[in-house]
Amino acid sequence: MQHTELEALLHDMSLNEKIGQLFQISGQLLAEDSAAMGPMQDMGVTREDISLAGTVLGVYGAEKIKKIQKEYMEHHPHHIPLIFMLDVINGYRTVYPIPLAQGASFRPELSGACAKMAAREAAAAGLHVTFSPMTDLVRDARWGRVMESTGEDVWLNGRFAEAMTRGYQGDDLAGDETLAACVKHFAGYGAPDGGRDYNTVQLTERTFREYYLPAYQAAVDAGAALVMTSFNTVNDIPATVNKTLMRDILRGEMGFDGVLISDFGAIGETVAHGLSSDRADAARRALEAGVDIDMMSGVYPEKLEHLIREGSVKEELLDEAVLRILELKNKLGLFENPFKGADAEKENRVILCGENRALAQEAAERSFVLLKNDGDFLPLKRQETVAFIGPYADRKQMLGGWSFLGDPADTVTVKEAAETLAAGWNFTFAKGCPVLDPETRLVGFGKDSQESYTEQEREAMWKEACETARQADKVVLLLGEHYLQTGEATSRGVLELPEVQQKLLKEITSINPKTAVVLFNGRPLDLRLVRDNACAILEAWMPGTEGGPALIRTLTGACEPTGRLPMSFPYCVGQVPVHYDEFPTGRPYSGAEDTNRFLSKYLDIPNKPLYPFGYGLGYTTFSVSEVRLDREEMTREGTITASVTVKNTCSRTGTDVIQLYLHDVAASVVRPVKQLKGYQRVTLEPGEEKEVSFEIREEMLRFYTADGSWDSEPGSFEVMIGESSETENKKVFVLKK
Ligand code: GLC
Repeated sequence: MQHTELEALLHDMSLNEKIGQLFQISGQLLAEDSAAMGPMQDMGVTREDISLAGTVLGVYGAEKIKKIQKEYMEHHPHHIPLIFMLDVINGYRTVYPIPLAQGASFRPELSGACAKMAAREAAAAGLHVTFSPMTDLVRDARWGRVMESTGEDVWLNGRFAEAMTRGYQGDDLAGDETLAACVKHFAGYGAPDGGRDYNTVQLTERTFREYYLPAYQAAVDAGAALVMTSFNTVNDIPATVNKTLMRDILRGEMGFDGVLISDFGAIGETVAHGLSSDRADAARRALEAGVDIDMMSGVYPEKLEHLIREGSVKEELLDEAVLRILELKNKLGLFENPFKGADAEKENRVILCGENRALAQEAAERSFVLLKNDGDFLPLKRQETVAFIGPYADRKQMLGGWSFLGDPADTVTVKEAAETLAAGWNFTFAKGCPVLDPETRLVGFGKDSQESYTEQEREAMWKEACETARQADKVVLLLGEHYLQTGEATSRGVLELPEVQQKLLKEITSINPKTAVVLFNGRPLDLRLVRDNACAILEAWMPGTEGGPALIRTLTGACEPTGRLPMSFPYCVGQVPVHYDEFPTGRPYSGAEDTNRFLSKYLDIPNKPLYPFGYGLGYTTFSVSEVRLDREEMTREGTITASVTVKNTCSRTGTDVIQLYLHDVAASVVRPVKQLKGYQRVTLEPGEEKEVSFEIREEMLRFYTADGSWDSEPGSFEVMIGESSETENKKVFVLKK
C-alpha cells in the first residue's frame, strides 16, 4: 500500500479499532475458552479487545497462523492483518549456540548467517517478527540474562547486533524468508544493581551513552524494524514511560522511526515501580513516551478509550502509533499477502534440514573456548581409553533457556555423536550424577528441573562413574548449569557448579587425575575448583542442537577450538561486575608484587579475573612480536599502521585471534585502561609467520569528552596488540592538534 492509503485507512478506523492495533495478545488468549480464564480475566480484557488486537505473541506454525489470520481478517472491520511475533533468539527449531557463545566466536558474520537460517525456518512457520537481537551490555555474571548478550565489549556487541539484524531482515522485509528484527532491551537492562533481574539500573549519563547505547545504535543503523523497551528504570524513570529516553534519545538522537513495543507487561508494571499512579496514568505516560505496542499488560485496551474521549490523551498520539504499526505491516507486505512466508510444506522441508544442522554445528564448534590444556591433554588420541562422565555426557537439553521451539529430542548428544563420529575410539560413558542437587527445584516456561532419582539410583550412578574413571587412561567430565539456571529471572548469588557436580569432580580427579572438564553453562562461572583439578578446560556454553557432534569433532582434533571469551570469568562472585575496560583509578594495583597497602585492591582475592575477556587457547602456540608503528604521530586526517609478526611455534596448523586495543593516556575524562578496536584471525602452518597490521584512524579515538561532545583529544595513546585483553605488548603514538 502507498503511505497515503495507510493514512486514509487510519482515518477511516474507529477509535476502538485504532486502540486495538496497539494491543499485543499472547497466543493463549486466542483459544476459544480464553475469554473466561487466565490472563484474559486477570487483564480485564474483553473478547472484543481480542478481536481488534493488532499483533500476536507466541503463536507459530504455518497452518495455525494462516487459519487465525484468515478468521481475524474476515471479522476485522477493515480486514487489517495481524503481525505474529516470537522470541527466536538462538534458532527457531534448529538451535544454534546461545548469543554469549556466539560472542565467543568473534565471528559476527557467522551469527548473521545463523540469524538468516532462523528467519528462514520461522518465516516458513508463519512468523513475521523476532524479539532479537538482545544487545544489552553485560558485566555481571550474577545476572542470568548474560546468556542472551554477546558480552562485555561495547564495540564487539555492535558488530554482532548489526550482523544479526541484517541476517534476520535480509534485503526485503516482505520476503518469504525474512523476519523483522526487534532490538532489545532499551535501555541499559544489563546493569541491574546486585545483578538481580528487573532491579534498578544506576548509570551516569556518560557511562550510559558511551557504553550502553552504541550497540542499540548499531542495530538501529542496520535497520531494525522494532525496538523493545526494558523493564528497568533509566535515570530513575521506568524506560517504558521514559519520554526523554524514547522520544528525545531513541527517536530523536538515534534516528529510530520504527515500532516501539513494551516488554511483557512493562507498561502496567510502572505502577509497581511507583511511577504511574494507576493503570490509566501508565497508559497515558507510555503513549506520550511513544510506546506503540502494549505487550500483554492490557493497559492500552483497558484505559485508552476513556482517556482519549475525556481529552486527557490526544488522539494524535494514538494516530501516530497506529500509523507506525500500519507502516510495519506494510513493510512486511501483509496487506498484499497476509500469510507472507507461511507454507506448511516448506516448513517441513527447511526445519532441521541438513544445511541448517550443519550451520548449527559450525557455530557451536566456533564458539568453544579452550581455557586450559596442560601437557596438550587435548585433543584426545585415538589409542587412549577415555571415559566421558557427567550429567552432560549423554544429555539432550543443551539448547539454553530461550529456545522456545527447540526440541531436545532433535539434539545429538555427546554420546550419540561419539557413536557415529568416533566409532573406532575407545570411549566409555557414565552419567555420574544429575545436573542439580536433590534439594534444588527450578521451574520455568512450563518446565520443571526435577530429576527424580532414588538414593539407590544415585549411588549406582556414582559407583559406575568411579569405576569407569578407574578403567580409563583419561577422563572427560561434562558438567554445567541446568538450562533453567540461566536466562530470564535466573539471577544467582553463587557462581559455582552445583554441589553434587563439584563432589563428582573431586572424586573422579582423585581416582584419575588425567581429567579434562567440558562446561555447559550460560554465564561466566567461578571455575577455581575446576582450574585446580582439571588438566584441561573447554567452555562449551549451551551449544544447541548439534552440540554433540561439534564437541566430539573438537575433542578428537578434527577441528580446533578458536573461541575467545566475550565476557570475563571472575575469580569469584565477589569480583563482579568485572570487565577488562575498567578505569585505572588513582591508585592502580599491578599485582601481588605491589606490596603497597593503599592501592585499589582486595585483601583476599586478586583484581584480575580468573580468565579475561579475549582469552582462549588453541591446539597450537604462537609468538607475537613487539608492536611496530609506521609513524609515531598522526593528525586527525592521518592514520597510523600498527603491526606485529605472528608465528606458529608448534607442529600443528592452528588459528589465533590477534586483538587490537587502544588506551587514551590522558584526557578530559578518565579513559579505560584499554578498549578493543579490532581483531584479525590468522591460521598458520607449523613454523609459518605472518605480519598482522591494523590501521588506526582518528574516529577510533573518540569518546564523550568532558563537555559532552563525541570527539578525540590530542595527546598520547597506547597501542596494544596481543592474544587477549591482558596483553601489555604496547607502543605509544601521539595524536597531534
Ligand atoms: C520477556 C523478555 C523479553 C521477551 C518477551 C516476550 O519478559 O524480557 O526479552 O522478548 O518477554 O517473550
